[in-house]
Amino acid sequence: MLTPEENEYLTRIGPGTPCGELLRHYWHPIYPGALLRENPVAKVRILCEDLVLFRDRRGRLGLIAERCPHRSVSMAYGIPEPEGLRCCYHGWLFDSQGRCLEQPLEPPDGTFKDKVCVKAYPVQELGGLIWAYLGPDPAPLLPRWDLFVRPDGFRQIIAHWLPCNWLQVMENRGDLGHAIYLHGRLFQYALERQGRLTDDPKARYNSAMARQNALLARGGYTRYRPIYNRFGFTKGTRTNDQPEDSRGWTIGSNPILFPYTLAFGPGEVGYRRTYQIGVPIDDTTTWHLQYFCYTFPAEVGAPQQDFVPYAAVPLQNEKGEYVLDYVLAQDMVAWYAQGEVTDRTQEHLGVSDVCVIAYRKMLSEQIARVAAGQEPMNVFRDPAENESLELQIPGSDGESPLRSAQIGGQVTAYRGNYHKVSKGGWLYIDDDADRFCPDRDAIVELYRRAEELADRVEAASQAR
Ligand code: FES
Ligand SMILES: [Fe+2]
Repeated sequence: MLTPEENEYLTRIGPGTPCGELLRHYWHPIYPGALLRENPVAKVRILCEDLVLFRDRRGRLGLIAERCPHRSVSMAYGIPEPEGLRCCYHGWLFDSQGRCLEQPLEPPDGTFKDKVCVKAYPVQELGGLIWAYLGPDPAPLLPRWDLFVRPDGFRQIIAHWLPCNWLQVMENRGDLGHAIYLHGRLFQYALERQGRLTDDPKARYNSAMARQNALLARGGYTRYRPIYNRFGFTKGTRTNDQPEDSRGWTIGSNPILFPYTLAFGPGEVGYRRTYQIGVPIDDTTTWHLQYFCYTFPAEVGAPQQDFVPYAAVPLQNEKGEYVLDYVLAQDMVAWYAQGEVTDRTQEHLGVSDVCVIAYRKMLSEQIARVAAGQEPMNVFRDPAENESLELQIPGSDGESPLRSAQIGGQVTAYRGNYHKVSKGGWLYIDDDADRFCPDRDAIVELYRRAEELADRVEAASQAR
């Protein structure tokens, strides 16, 4: 339970707030590169600031304050020129540094233009996303987290706009236990209401509940703990009757990469690798990115991509009902169903919330570092250090196994089925946000080819 002041301290992200000042030390994804190809000017909002992103006619990116300093027309209606973005109203031209280069209706020998400028921020493109840095100079390096840079990735980005504060999303990242009821029992109930529930034992909702019911029947419970590493922490988990040296307890899983990315693994993720990125737009809006990077063996022949496809998916169906029949949708309803900024003065945390508490503590510590004039964690300035970062987390091996089913737990094995039709008559891929991937059919086909390849390799090794 927090005090009202503590809740404000951890959640508010506007300029001048303690948490907002912390987050301004990081690069943030602000826009999909795929959409900027369609229209080179876009209004964006990040950390409560309204900005305009543009690509000038020489291909350079710029990010400036939304309002023209002349008479406040939105620069989102601006016209890209070779040297910058021209205001649509009276033609003032601004470059990516925010300098005013032209005021074509003013006397040509005047110096008025040298006296006005707009706020401008550094901006870069990586992994199909445009990133911005809103903090103090000098800007650190844009982190080269593995999935944004690995050469063997076939990438897709699925986005949702969430009407809630970013910290609720992050607290779910720490909370492994929710998967049992939110992705097990609620999933069963959502399908039951649609008349689609089956007894398919491979479906993750049935296997999750079967495991949980067996655990309860033998009087067991699951323990959790944070296992810290230099980027954040993984979540250790074991049932009370599993040994303390089990991998789940010593290495943990699903690293949190501070401040707001969740990775999966390490070391057991098969073809489908994912980041979940909860971008803080303002105090009550989060742009959630499901960043998929499918890493098939080269023999499968995944196509080269000119850009990373992007799809923004509504939270509700055409009847205005919240969608609940895929895994990420269940997470999202838990986030925004806590309220816009959840009232943490009313909560009652139990021992299973230990990783939620760990994340809050880490966040408080990093806010305090910045307040004391120090640099927070995960700010990188050494290019050598900035390569394929999270592969340095203990337990990560960076391997891309031939058949995901051979290496992981049941969820991973289940994901190896993505190209197959379930007992319910729908493709397994459709149980999660992968179903919205613009190249969904290609992914299903690549899974099929990967399985064929794995079969051939297995047959050859048995013949030997
Ligand atoms: S309002 Fe932008 S040039 Fe006049
Ligand atoms: Fe979840």
